[in-house]
Amino acid sequence: MRRAGKVVAEMHEACREAAKPGATTADLDRVAREVLERRGARSNFLNYHGYPAVICTSPNSVIVHGIPGDYVLEEGDILSIDCGAIIEGYHGDAAFTMPIGQVSKAAQRLIDVTERSLWAAIDEMEDGNRLSDIGHAVQTVAEAAGFSIVREYVGHAIGTAMHEEPQVPNYGPPGRGPKLRPGMVFAVEPMVNAGGPGTRLLDDGWTVVTADGSLSCHAEHTIAITDNGPEVLTLP
Ligand code: MF3
Ligand code: CO
Repeated sequence: MRRAGKVVAEMHEACREAAKPGATTADLDRVAREVLERRGARSNFLNYHGYPAVICTSPNSVIVHGIPGDYVLEEGDILSIDCGAIIEGYHGDAAFTMPIGQVSKAAQRLIDVTERSLWAAIDEMEDGNRLSDIGHAVQTVAEAAGFSIVREYVGHAIGTAMHEEPQVPNYGPPGRGPKLRPGMVFAVEPMVNAGGPGTRLLDDGWTVVTADGSLSCHAEHTIAITDNGPEVLTLP
């Protein structure tokens, strides 16, 4: 899983480099495909329930699962890029949100808080803590900043499949659910809206947008619980 995680991190770096004003989201999908090919990795997104690309690109009010296409990135956009890879049957899955050129203070704050909520959750991923401590940490950080947490989409365990049980919600009380043990691996993925928490699915059957049109931000890492604490597998 470490190797799959490294490929995902490399997809992030390549996409981050390519995500400039004037580029299309389809350009980013091509860049990500090149990394998969170069590393001899397979895509876990492509053909997943018919999904047509190897990454998800979710600009502005798109929360998750935006399909790469002819959307042209513009200065001032924020863009979530979600990537996955399979190496020798093991999966990696991670996402980040980036500013395209100069963005508003409000947009940058949403990005920073979402990232901070993910790292607060990672800090909780210690032997003996409980599953719901993860989501509680995300929710506490995001709501303290005045943002809201999406409920309809959640993180997940990950291993020889991308989506394994149990689910990992980004909200809830602490101290509930199974104990976290070394060897468990989770994809933790806060989805944080600047406005209300509501979501709407577009007619393409994939693209999830905020119900109120507000900006949304997504960050995700694949994290293993080890005897020495959390190990983030999807860092470069
Ligand atoms: N990364 C997404 C997740 O965390 C998976 C996207 S599924 C796809 O669940 F089909 F859109 F690729
Ligand atoms: Co995921």
